[in-house]
Amino acid sequence: MAGELTVMICMAAAALLISLTGGAGVAAASAKELRRGFSATHDTSYSHFQPVLTDPTGAFAFGFLRVNSTTLDLAVLHLPSAFPLWRAMPDRPAPWSAAASLSFNGNLVLTDAATNQVLWSTAAAAGDRAVLLNTSNLQIRSSSSPVAVWQSFDHPSDTIVQGQNLTSSAALHSIDQRFAMRLGSNYFALYVEPPPLSSGSVAAAMYSRHTALEAKAQIVAGGGPIYVRVEADGYLGMYQKEGAPADVMSFDTFNHGVRALRRMTLEPDGNLRAYYWDGSRWVLDYTTITDSCELPTTCGAYSVCVQPSGRCACLANATDGPGCAAPSVGSGLCGTTGGEVGGLYSEVRRHGVEPANKELLGFEHAPSAGDCEALCARNCSCWGAVYSNGTGYCYLMDYPAQLMVAADKRKVGYFKVRSMEEAAARGGRAGGVKAALLAVGVAVVAAAAAFGAYRVWDRRRRAAAETRQQLGADGDGLSPGPYKNLGSFSSVELSSSFNSSRR
Ligand SMILES: *[C@@H]1O[C@H](CO)[C@@H](O)[C@H](O)[C@H]1NC(C)=O
Ligand SMILES: *[C@@H]1O[C@H](CO)[C@@H](O)[C@H](O)[C@H]1NC(C)=O
Ligand SMILES: *[C@@H]1O[C@H](CO)[C@@H](O)[C@H](O)[C@H]1NC(C)=O
Ligand SMILES: *[C@@H]1O[C@H](CO)[C@@H](O)[C@H](O)[C@H]1NC(C)=O
Ligand SMILES: *[C@@H]1O[C@H](CO)[C@@H](O)[C@H](O)[C@H]1NC(C)=O
Ligand SMILES: *[C@@H]1O[C@H](CO)[C@@H](O)[C@H](O)[C@H]1NC(C)=O
Repeated sequence: MAGELTVMICMAAAALLISLTGGAGVAAASAKELRRGFSATHDTSYSHFQPVLTDPTGAFAFGFLRVNSTTLDLAVLHLPSAFPLWRAMPDRPAPWSAAASLSFNGNLVLTDAATNQVLWSTAAAAGDRAVLLNTSNLQIRSSSSPVAVWQSFDHPSDTIVQGQNLTSSAALHSIDQRFAMRLGSNYFALYVEPPPLSSGSVAAAMYSRHTALEAKAQIVAGGGPIYVRVEADGYLGMYQKEGAPADVMSFDTFNHGVRALRRMTLEPDGNLRAYYWDGSRWVLDYTTITDSCELPTTCGAYSVCVQPSGRCACLANATDGPGCAAPSVGSGLCGTTGGEVGGLYSEVRRHGVEPANKELLGFEHAPSAGDCEALCARNCSCWGAVYSNGTGYCYLMDYPAQLMVAADKRKVGYFKVRSMEEAAARGGRAGGVKAALLAVGVAVVAAAAAFGAYRVWDRRRRAAAETRQQLGADGDGLSPGPYKNLGSFSSVELSSSFNSSRR
């Protein structure tokens, strides 16, 4: 049975390799081991993936991957599905057409031959050889060390595979870098990462946390960091010590005797999902967030999600839809104008809203909604406060309002909504209200067209996302998330909120 499966996987892998590479000299191009002095040149005649190193079973290969049809990355692919289980993710990715080369001189180094710039490197202690294990783990080994001097398992991108430890010294990032999974002292959590260029003015927003039940084993303070691992029996185990898991998060096929390659991936929608490979497709086996309002991508920043429909409305009375304003760009709430209301942000008050992640938020006790608001208003790192008139809790947010859900009228929200800052930033950082007004004026004209275009884009995006889901999420179909595409859309929102604030 296992032998049959291996044969099947090998055949599928071979077929796929041929289809991926146009049948051209795969055996000659990819090795089982890279020795010092090895060098391979990127060959753009490969349409999608150029293998350099394969594992003993032929199920995995390491090589040059074409991402989003335009850029070049290094990746470890699961060949039957062409799914990238690991990606190097250089800080400055090169175009696919770049004359790049991969060499091994003790480290793996990706170099742009035209400029002689190092694009990516393992920067580890020197090893003798690089190998790809049958677990998909890419290792650099040295004869003087029993353990690998570097391994891809310690530097995951968006995925962990069965048997791979995710420790607190690493994190998973969705492929667009918007979301992260990190470990705490006795839990793992999912975060909305601060947008690039927010320079510390926005904190990561925790939107999901799984705390160890500690039924079988306790987590001991000072007993070392914890780690999680996807196990063959179909669960995510959380450990402080090998042997007894402190937590077992079971998948649908837990203990069903399914023996197949498993993976867990932090996907572009912010959800963490587990799959197994059934020989022809990745079968969904676990979904961490099942309530769509608890997913940050359902409505985006400055909006309210209505359960259970997942319908979105903007906090500031702007048009309904996902993405009600730019989450944040540039400086903090206390910028050059001293954080004055009307300069960098406007204040929005809403009854009947509360954070979907309120259990994960810090709170203070406050005698009234006004006191709660005051705790936030003069605080430069506070983006919003929600007061619960029932409990007297005042929840404070250190990131732009998101993950808000409709609640009863006794919940009162106060939010700082970015108003003209982005427009000001676009006007060559003039920063003045005049520049902002001008930009808003232009935006008003552009708004109708942009919004129409947005609708079309959004429909396409959703359709594409669904297709990807059905296909088992192929890695290179990157979902254009709201942060990246807010460029035109934020102008719409700026103008609408501007209009409403003038009413
Ligand atoms: C992928 O390509 C599209 C257009 O082809 C672009 O808008 C998008 O930003 C790209 N995504 C990444 C992550 O580069
Ligand atoms: C993977 O390799 C290990 C030894 O390195 C071996 O014990 C194991 O059976 C192999 N697994 C597969 C699926 O080939
Ligand atoms: C995972 O961690 C355990 C405990 O530290 C260790 O024994 C094991 O070798 C690790 N596995 C990998 C693939 O690094
Ligand atoms: C939204 O519009 C309603 C009705 O026009 C108004 O009562 C309410 O104050 C507005 N809310 C905000 C946050 O502007
Ligand atoms: C300011 O707000 C942040 C985020 O809500 C909070 O963590 C911090 O304690 C507040 N600082 C003061 C001085 O109240
Ligand atoms: C809070 O509750 C008190 C007492 O029940 C009531 O007088 C007050 O109007 C409520 N405030 C809000 C904002 O709902």
